[in-house]
Amino acid sequence: MLEYNTIYLDYNMNDKVIFSGVQPSGEIHIGNYLGAISQFVDYQTDYKSIFSIVDLHAITVWQDSEALRNSTREVLAIFLASGLDESKNIIFNQSQVPEHTQLSWILSCTAKVGWLNRMTQFKDKAGKNKENASVGLYTYPILMAADILLYSASHVPVGDDQKQHLELARDIAHKFNTDYSENIFVMPEPLMNKSTTRIMSLRDGSNKMSKSDISEYSRILMTDSNDKIALKIKKAKTDPLKMPNTLKESESRLEVNNLLNIYSACALMKKEEVISKYASKEISLFKNDLTEVIINKVEPISIKTKQLLTDKVHLDNILSMGATKAKEISCKTIAKVYDKIGMINK
Ligand code: TYM
Repeated sequence: MLEYNTIYLDYNMNDKVIFSGVQPSGEIHIGNYLGAISQFVDYQTDYKSIFSIVDLHAITVWQDSEALRNSTREVLAIFLASGLDESKNIIFNQSQVPEHTQLSWILSCTAKVGWLNRMTQFKDKAGKNKENASVGLYTYPILMAADILLYSASHVPVGDDQKQHLELARDIAHKFNTDYSENIFVMPEPLMNKSTTRIMSLRDGSNKMSKSDISEYSRILMTDSNDKIALKIKKAKTDPLKMPNTLKESESRLEVNNLLNIYSACALMKKEEVISKYASKEISLFKNDLTEVIINKVEPISIKTKQLLTDKVHLDNILSMGATKAKEISCKTIAKVYDKIGMINK
């Protein structure tokens, strides 16, 4: 796999293009928000930004059609409620721009089976039942590469779980450029926020917070009520010790460390400051304050999301406008690629 530099938040921003995607499968949790969506909001003024609700990725596992439609609108509503501006950015659902699947096929002729076989997310998701997983789940990272390369994205804000897929996108771009002796595709770099790049489950600090975890107490949803948030934090797994005194001590205590990361990100406070504020205090006291800082972050987004969801026509119009703008860019890439590989396309 090709090496890349992981770029952190203090990166010098100069006219770069961002692309990122969120699946409308299951409900958006605070890991998605802190690891990805809040970053989208931070970058939207300095980057030309394109954000997609990747519904074609969602159907790699079966989805109820009504639930998929609702979930697509809900992700859009959460984007907007979090502060993404549809007039400054391109926001659309992937299936309205067919160039994603067109490029995906072409790139599947560039990517190697061996490269896909290394993808850990497929192994995790397919589990022991690999033979029964959909082919789409296996080739999913190629569609993701197409998403990114279609828009010549230079930077991709994602959580740590997507790093390997991004490396694959770089490998595919590099091979295509080499095969056709021209730099058709831009090599994308990940953008990650160190402390929130992997928010862990509230029930098990060694597993990431995930939409598909069977326990609803493993995650805080962006639409959870205040009472639900309080209950989930109360039940969050910790250890019998008091709060840590140092960063090093915190890092050796998975569950507490995860809660400190969440606190620090929600309160916009340096983690060291949070550690010194609560050093040697009872965990229950910290949990009470943590509940409050999470509610301060989630409640306004949740209220706005619910308001936005009352006007489906407005939301669908935003997606369709975004798709029109996205097509203007993606059509040009497809024309360039078709020409390069020898397709007659008048
Ligand atoms: P998805 O829908 O699983 O997750 C959306 C974003 O949330 C991040 N994320 C997390 N960040 C921190 N802690 C966590 N526990 C956590 N869980 C999820 C993900 O890293 C992601 O940034 N394959 C992608 C969607 C995609 C995409 C793309 C992303 C499709 N095409 C092109 C970027 C560029 C996915 O399944 O994300």
